[in-house]
Amino acid sequence: MGNNTLTVTDNRTGKTYEIPIEHNTIRALDLRQIKSADDDFGLMTYDPAFMNTASCKSTITYIDGDKGILEYRGYPIEQLAEHSSYLEVAYLLIYGELPTSERLDWWTYRISRHTFLHNNLVELIRAFRYDAHPMGIMISAVAAMSTLFPESKDVMDPDVREKQIWRIVGQMPTIAAFAYRNRIGRPFNSPDNSLSYTANLLYMMDYMNQRDYEVNPVLAKALDVLFILHADHEQNCSTATMRGVGSSRVDPYNAFAAAASALYGPLHGGANEAVLRMLQQIGDVKNVKGFIDKVKKGEGRLMGFGHRVYKNYDPRAKIIRKVAYDVFEATGSNPLLEIAVELERIALQDDYFISRKLYPNVDFYSGLIYQALRFPIEYFPCLFAIPRAAGWLTQWVEMLNDDEQKIMRPRQVYLGHERREYVPLDQR
Ligand code: CMC
Repeated sequence: MGNNTLTVTDNRTGKTYEIPIEHNTIRALDLRQIKSADDDFGLMTYDPAFMNTASCKSTITYIDGDKGILEYRGYPIEQLAEHSSYLEVAYLLIYGELPTSERLDWWTYRISRHTFLHNNLVELIRAFRYDAHPMGIMISAVAAMSTLFPESKDVMDPDVREKQIWRIVGQMPTIAAFAYRNRIGRPFNSPDNSLSYTANLLYMMDYMNQRDYEVNPVLAKALDVLFILHADHEQNCSTATMRGVGSSRVDPYNAFAAAASALYGPLHGGANEAVLRMLQQIGDVKNVKGFIDKVKKGEGRLMGFGHRVYKNYDPRAKIIRKVAYDVFEATGSNPLLEIAVELERIALQDDYFISRKLYPNVDFYSGLIYQALRFPIEYFPCLFAIPRAAGWLTQWVEMLNDDEQKIMRPRQVYLGHERREYVPLDQR
């Protein structure tokens, strides 16, 4: 079998096995042949939270957590953030190559033709209570799209899939803007397809019939860069959910709603909301040291710090830090910024954080930018979900086209009772 193998000796039986290594991995199923007796099920791996298990082969996003590298289809995130636009990056992810200018025009046109919502969806959004969390509205609205586009369940047809991708990428900003307008009790603004993707979102959220209304280009550009940074991040919790739920061959809307639900949690895309709540709770620069001491005692976490993959620095955080200062120049400084800067300063010098390789992640700054842009705190995860649509949908298509993939179905190690007889109620 050559040198690219792993030799394993089972000390229970003394038998030796040679297992192929490919792309620095072994196939978990190759371990199944290792048995201590003929009727043994065979060896499995135990990997809670998938700390060391690759669930797919992918050609979309590359991350080297130790070196702080993030690339989409081979292009460094720094170059995309500087030179590209969100829609161009979404095209790159979905179609695999940067578009020519004709293809970019075609793609922009396709997306702009899918920004309006079906009236049923508008009514659904309107039916939510005034204080409904916008992520709850967004998740429900995307799931409800499956009822309006029933052909979407034909997930093995590439043309059908492509149409749903246009619809989701096109309608996400509208759903998000309407969820916001519902909360503030204002009429919904129809999309303006002459605007850029992010300018249109800001317009739908903010416009109040002012005669001289114009979207601030600095803010639209800042949001566009944030969208590029959030477009994909390989096999994170929500993407794994999109692939896992999608592996049952459910339509993309329901798989997408599940992925957005995973994103909503405070350890994932809800972290930017959690950062702001933490800064508000700290309240003043003089309380920062006491807060850090509490975190070190295990009483809570420093939200916006740490990452499962990045153990050196988060390359997105470096870019976003600069965007933050551009935005503060346009909007004026943020009262919570001082607290954030002091938190970062103290944490980066403290052995607790240094020894655990805890650095600011993308959410540490994105929350501050969103606040400067006057988005309500509970709206922050929506601003993560909108751009992540490109990543989720690309990963979903890759999963469906991968012959090695099947319905996702992990194994377990059963440690419960052995078989026992049912005890009637009156005898317990
Ligand atoms: N504050 C304080 N201590 C921390 C933090 C934190 N933010 N993150 C990790 N630790 C400690 C943790 O207590 C543990 O210490 P010990 O070894 O003494 O038990 C050690 O560092 C390792 O932590 P872990 O929980 O095993 O690490 P993980 O890789 O499972 O967790 C994480 C990654 C992102 C969930 C975690 O760092 C965290 O909870 N951060 C705060 C939430 C946050 O900012 N999330 C956004 C992530 S970036 C956006 C995205 O991609 O979703």
